[in-house]
Amino acid sequence: MKVLIATEKPFAAVAVDGMRKVIEEAGAELVLLEKYASKQELLDAVATAEALIIRSDKVDAEVLAAAPALKVVVRAGAGYDNVDLEAATARGVCVQNTPGQNSNAVAELVFGMAVMMSRNMFNGTSGTELKDKTLGIQAFGQVGRNVARIARGFEMNVSALDPYCPDNVMEDAGVTPVHSVEELYRLNKVVSIHIPATPETRKSIGYDLIASMPKGGLLINTARKEVIDEEGLIRALDERADLKYAADVAPERAAEIKERFGDRVFFTPKKMGAQTSEANINAGIAAARQVISFLTTGEERFRVNK
Ligand code: 3PG
Repeated sequence: MKVLIATEKPFAAVAVDGMRKVIEEAGAELVLLEKYASKQELLDAVATAEALIIRSDKVDAEVLAAAPALKVVVRAGAGYDNVDLEAATARGVCVQNTPGQNSNAVAELVFGMAVMMSRNMFNGTSGTELKDKTLGIQAFGQVGRNVARIARGFEMNVSALDPYCPDNVMEDAGVTPVHSVEELYRLNKVVSIHIPATPETRKSIGYDLIASMPKGGLLINTARKEVIDEEGLIRALDERADLKYAADVAPERAAEIKERFGDRVFFTPKKMGAQTSEANINAGIAAARQVISFLTTGEERFRVNK
């Protein structure tokens, strides 16, 4: 059994050690492809792999076609918009994710950004505090729930929107449910986005929502850049000098946006939300275990291409 870990953005070494242990103790062989610079390297490496563990690495129809022995792909993380599920299903490849394993790391980044932006990037001017401010969480999944938990420590007033989550789950977490996206943006000074990138959510957050935020509004996006309508974001930032935007991974027009709006915007250079040793260990080892369970027993609990 050959298990390929292909990560353009590598896991922490300690996570790889743990994954190696799980894989080798099961009698499988681990092949490591890290920081690869071209798709061809990935195409060559998957040629003999039965299992593939990835992060945000793109697994499209071409990669799947180059992997005739492949049975399972595990995305060590939550979002699987980087995997062509239809092509995988057509080839009989099981695709899984590791939900929840890196969610605390992403939630902590939200607050790192919230404090930094509220303090004007620590540029010497007077900022604002998070205490008693309103926070709206867009999607109350694993990351959203961690954000709500941490927000309690900051004494923020938290509400959330999630059509898939019953109100009582939010209420039990001390969160006020809201039932429309318009309400979420209109009522909250800080909004934190945690929706997946799907055909329905792509470019779904644009001018109308962003420009409706209260005075001094801060939008934090640690989800996917694709959910933002960049034109609308730029227009809202242009018209409202009090608005700010921070994102984990730069938008397409990052340089232009940074140039125009300076300290009112912040972007990580690479997706950093899950880039902690703890998250790497949690998600990486979960992925290794899932691969081995699938190969040895056919276990499919976290399958996403039903
Ligand atoms: C996820 O979907 O789990 C996060 O965006 C993390 O992505 P990464 O593994 O590329 O850091």
